[in-house]
Amino acid sequence: MKHINTIILAAGKGSRMNSTKPKVLQTLSNKTLLGHVLMQAQQLCSEVFVVVGFGGKQVRQAFTGDDSINWVEQTEQLGTGHAVVQTMPHINDDSISLVLYGDVPLIEQLTLKSLITQAQKSGIALLSVVLKNPTGYGRIIRQNKKIQAIVEQKDATQEQLACCEVNTGIMAVDSGLLKTYLSALDSNNAQSEFYLTDIIAMAVKDGKTVASVITENEFEVAGVNDKAQLAELERTFQQNQANQFMQQGLTLKDPARFDCRGRLSFGQDCEIDINVLIEGNVSLGNNTTIAPNCIIKNAKIGNNVVILPNSVIEDATIGEGASIGPFARIRPETKIGKNTKIGNFVEVKKSIIGKGSKVSHLSYVGDTIMGNNVNIGAGVITCNYDGVNKHQTIIEDGAFIGSDSQLIAPIKIGKNATIGAGSTITKNVVESQLSLSRTKQTNLKNWHKPAKK
Ligand code: UD1
Ligand code: CA
Repeated sequence: MKHINTIILAAGKGSRMNSTKPKVLQTLSNKTLLGHVLMQAQQLCSEVFVVVGFGGKQVRQAFTGDDSINWVEQTEQLGTGHAVVQTMPHINDDSISLVLYGDVPLIEQLTLKSLITQAQKSGIALLSVVLKNPTGYGRIIRQNKKIQAIVEQKDATQEQLACCEVNTGIMAVDSGLLKTYLSALDSNNAQSEFYLTDIIAMAVKDGKTVASVITENEFEVAGVNDKAQLAELERTFQQNQANQFMQQGLTLKDPARFDCRGRLSFGQDCEIDINVLIEGNVSLGNNTTIAPNCIIKNAKIGNNVVILPNSVIEDATIGEGASIGPFARIRPETKIGKNTKIGNFVEVKKSIIGKGSKVSHLSYVGDTIMGNNVNIGAGVITCNYDGVNKHQTIIEDGAFIGSDSQLIAPIKIGKNATIGAGSTITKNVVESQLSLSRTKQTNLKNWHKPAKK
């Protein structure tokens, strides 16, 4: 078995994107197009070469930190053959070169593996697809079912244009052979480019049989040239992923209205309702449900958790049996304990909420360490910011904070203490104390409403 080199072509401009970003940096499911192709290449345990040209610096920058990529510059875009030529000085003759396109993101492992297997046997293997509308693509010319050549749209005869089997651009070739053929390329064609596709006819002339792999999945070989195609492939990607999740037992109320732009893992009997967006790394325990319109990013959510509609959770841990929302916002560095309740219009930031505690309505809890079985009344605010620095609030087990109170941090409310409703608390409160800070109520007997003038 020969070693595999993957060559990813990514030097083109992609002008139809109408963007300042190079095409391969457009994202599909929050990952760049090139990122998708690289992920497939790296799974093949191959050495990876990426040919960059237009916006090359920007492309390289987007992958800083990934030392496994060998970047190769193509300063002038003289065609796909010319692009591959740039990598040849780095590639050993005794290997297989797999050519991929940076703007064809959804190619799959199984397909690439079968292409490579064919190339190991015959020296050259080509991936094609049969399209209802082949316009624009290179046509596969066969004789007695054997591949003879690829003819580009602009160079093809009327008869050749009628052929619906097209070149995907993806091929695997013995590197020694590839070098020989590349050195014989010329640009005598309608586009005055060095076509990689010309090596097919050269191999045939050389007595080789070009092995053929035909994919049934159009999406695998679909290139992205404009925003409409990008959106279409995003849908396909999401639909495929949703199907996989459902096969693994996840209930999706409507797979067409569910997006996961990251990694999702889940236990048994989880349910996700419509218009939910998952980002980053999210894990769900068993029997957890997510209601409509929730956004969940980088979160670890336990068993039997109920997330009610319109809640947003980011960088947080939610304990078993907790209930979140509706309309809750759980911000980064928050840890919600077992069986807690975070109700509507509650924002929690960088806080730890203990077991069985309740923050049911209209509150802001920030930079807080809250014990177990605490009850926070409606409209309570931890005033954590003095305009310059952030300060901590500590609320110990069993404390009761009356509605519409403000706790001015830094502050500590002792175990089982009670804060009377409407208080502004600036000093620590010890265990089991009642603390109030309201002015005494006065009822004026002889008061009259002002008369209208
Ligand atoms: C190419 C194929 C065509 C095939 C089609 C599939 C050739 C001559 N034609 O045509 O048979 O049906 O792809 O989509 O190969 N690139 C570079 N440097 C260059 C030129 C291109 O890196 O000098 C890169 C582009 O960024 C792109 C890929 O190669 O990712 C394909 O280039 P493109 O111009 O889209 O090729 P097509 O003319 O569509
Ligand atoms: Ca083109």
